[in-house]
Amino acid sequence: MKIIKMVKKSGEVLAILLLLLLCWTAAFYITPWFFQAFPIHQLSSYKMQMIDTFFGFFLFGLIMYGFSKISFFQEKQSLFLRPMIEAMAKMAQGNFNIDLSFYKKEFGNRNHPFNEIAESITHMATELGEMEQMRQEFISNVSHEIQSPLTSITGFAHALKSDHLSDEERMQYLEIIEVESMRLSKLSDNLLKLTSLESDHPPFEPKSYRLDQQLRRVILSNEPQWRNKNLEMDVSLNKVTINADEELMDQVWINLLHNSIKFTPNNGKIGVEIIKNAADRITVTIKDTGIGMTKEVQMHIFERFYKADPSRNRSNGGSGLGLSIVKKIIEMHKGDIQVESSPNKGTELKVILPIDQ
Ligand SMILES: Nc1ncnc2c1ncn2[C@@H]1O[C@H](COP(=O)(O)OP(=O)(O)OP(=O)(O)O)[C@@H](O)[C@H]1O
Ligand SMILES: [Mg+2]
Repeated sequence: MKIIKMVKKSGEVLAILLLLLLCWTAAFYITPWFFQAFPIHQLSSYKMQMIDTFFGFFLFGLIMYGFSKISFFQEKQSLFLRPMIEAMAKMAQGNFNIDLSFYKKEFGNRNHPFNEIAESITHMATELGEMEQMRQEFISNVSHEIQSPLTSITGFAHALKSDHLSDEERMQYLEIIEVESMRLSKLSDNLLKLTSLESDHPPFEPKSYRLDQQLRRVILSNEPQWRNKNLEMDVSLNKVTINADEELMDQVWINLLHNSIKFTPNNGKIGVEIIKNAADRITVTIKDTGIGMTKEVQMHIFERFYKADPSRNRSNGGSGLGLSIVKKIIEMHKGDIQVESSPNKGTELKVILPIDQ
């Protein structure tokens, strides 16, 4: 393959040299005829030589220009541009599955500009393709999350029109409609939060405040939920000041606590603890004796819309966005979140945060 290319290239160089030779030869025979037809006296042989040379080059340029206008050569030029143009047209139509291996075959691994352009177009197409896939997955997840409560609401609203319902049944249907509407409202709330956190200018106003007081307040405001399930709350909070956005951190503790309450059966136990593990860092641990998670599940819990058990979540009203919001907020605070869990034993979520010195 390489040898054929080398032969082809040498042939091209040889053809150009031959053409130059022909042009100079032509110039050599034409100029004396020109001097005879229009006698110019007193020209030194040096000047005549110069005229010869210029005329030779002029002829060469003229022929090359003529070649470039011949469609065969124009086609050869556009042959190299066509795959790129076609790839761009495909991308403009939303198809990011492009193949520009033509340039690799043509120019090998050389640093040829065509190779570089083809590589960056392929890279761009891959990135755009991934973004498009994420967008489609997002839309399909949102539609799914909206569709199931809407189906329930429509179904039970329709059933309520019947005259043959007992008061008890009517109440039960209305409660389902209420729960499903709240689920929809929570979903839209979470989507808005996630969008605002992922925007170019997310809300972020850090200030110094007492973390232990914040955690105590969040635990107390959720007392009805954990009391309802008769959960024991074991709280050990050292006095700690952190520099963070208090409103965003509220969301973190609420989401983590809600998960522990949600995934812990009645009469279980939840523990919340602050540990100062280094001069510049603290760890907040939220521990429960709930259903736990397998290693496989733990790998996905921070992904948007991920739910280990969608059927269980249906009754709990989750949309799988809580932990992705938590992770985003912790990242904004330059912290880290880790999970330790075993099925049927419980879960421990550790939030590591930098603190004021
Ligand atoms: N403490 C926990 N114990 C057991 N499983 C958990 C716990 N916390 C999270 N999970 C698992 O991780 C999944 C994702 O949690 P996440 O908080 O993101 O969503 P969700 O609680 O299902 O819904 P949402 O938070 O949007 O209401 C949960 O569905 C559950 O399977
Ligand atoms: Mg949750």
